[in-house]
Amino acid sequence: MQVVPWRGAALLLCCACLCAGVEKDCVLGKVGEPVLLPCLYPALSTFLNFSIEWRKYDKVVFRSLWDEDGNVETWSVNHVRIPTDAPLTGNFSLELPSAHPKHDRSQYSLFLLSGENQSAPLCTMCLRIAASFRTPEVKKEHTEENDESTYLCHSSGGYPEPVVYWLINNSQEPPNGSVRTQAEALPDSHLYNITSQLTVNIPKDATVSCTIKNPSMNEKLTSKYGASPNPVEWQASHGMWIFSTVLCVVVAIMVLAGVYYQIHLDRINKRRKKEYEEPQRGRRYQWKQAAEAMMPEQVETDV
Ligand SMILES: *[C@@H]1O[C@H](CO)[C@@H](O)[C@H](O)[C@H]1NC(C)=O
Ligand SMILES: *[C@@H]1O[C@H](CO)[C@@H](O)[C@H](O)[C@H]1NC(C)=O
Ligand SMILES: *[C@@H]1O[C@H](CO)[C@@H](O)[C@H](O)[C@H]1NC(C)=O
Ligand SMILES: *[C@@H]1O[C@H](CO)[C@@H](O)[C@H](O)[C@H]1NC(C)=O
Ligand SMILES: *[C@@H]1O[C@H](CO)[C@@H](O)[C@H](O)[C@H]1NC(C)=O
Ligand SMILES: *[C@@H]1O[C@H](CO)[C@@H](O)[C@H](O)[C@H]1NC(C)=O
Repeated sequence: MQVVPWRGAALLLCCACLCAGVEKDCVLGKVGEPVLLPCLYPALSTFLNFSIEWRKYDKVVFRSLWDEDGNVETWSVNHVRIPTDAPLTGNFSLELPSAHPKHDRSQYSLFLLSGENQSAPLCTMCLRIAASFRTPEVKKEHTEENDESTYLCHSSGGYPEPVVYWLINNSQEPPNGSVRTQAEALPDSHLYNITSQLTVNIPKDATVSCTIKNPSMNEKLTSKYGASPNPVEWQASHGMWIFSTVLCVVVAIMVLAGVYYQIHLDRINKRRKKEYEEPQRGRRYQWKQAAEAMMPEQVETDV
């Protein structure tokens, strides 16, 4: 209920400025891209001599002066501008050609000046700057001391300073004091290089993931270590697989060849035996009987 009268007063104060409200959400600019700070106002063709000023806090960054003959004089810092037909359309939006982290969290206001009089701000906008980080890289440092493993997570090119967190096996937070994170703003671009170090005592097959969260961009970038076998391990297991397949095939061929050879030998033997046994059947039969007679006794002694 408090908002409505406040808004009404503001509207009166700014002569029906459409973008009234200091408390409005900030405009988000992406580093390197143009940003528009919107400000709409009723057309100003009825004024005689007047000028407008966009100020960053109290420093003028853009000024335009129209006189009664329709001439216009403009002045600006860093090539910021407004549409040239602004007084006709009422679109006084300020365009910054390229967002830079040094503009972050600044407040811009538009003023109308006529003679010696100055209006209340017609529009006040705050500007937030952000840039995406690169997908982080996680690697393991090879230290064999104390059974502890050290993992490093690195990313760069983002803004503002992100939140970094680690998870072990996709769910467990690392113990207190095991993470050290360092963010470094590069001098020219103001973009951040970020390196986080996790030192823990965990089994070798545990999965470790590093997430870089940039709330301004509504972005979360995660990289894992140990989730999928790394290329070297993959090649090794691939090699093992090929080796065992080849081994299986070779063994199978040898077994088949052996069986075939055995069958072949058996056939030859049978033929030979037949040829040999034909005349001596009687003798072999007697031997067989003798063997059968012995068998039961053997079984009994065994049991
Ligand atoms: C408008 O400005 C011009 C010069 O900038 C001046 O000569 C003229 O008198 C001004 N007119 C009014 C109404 O103030
Ligand atoms: C105001 O001007 C800007 C820049 O020319 C344009 O992008 C924007 O759409 C305009 N807004 C309206 C409401 O016309
Ligand atoms: C400035 O404002 C005063 C009072 O608000 C008004 O009397 C005067 O005419 C205005 N001057 C101009 C140049 O608009
Ligand atoms: C880690 O520290 C935080 C606050 O610093 C505390 O709330 C939390 O209980 C601690 N966790 C462990 C496991 O010690
Ligand atoms: C920041 O990170 C980039 C990419 O990893 C790297 O090339 C550069 O050297 C780093 N700069 C500093 C100052 O650490
Ligand atoms: C994580 O998982 C691995 C294998 O699934 C297991 O050996 C290890 O104990 C787990 N680590 C923790 C800290 O839970």
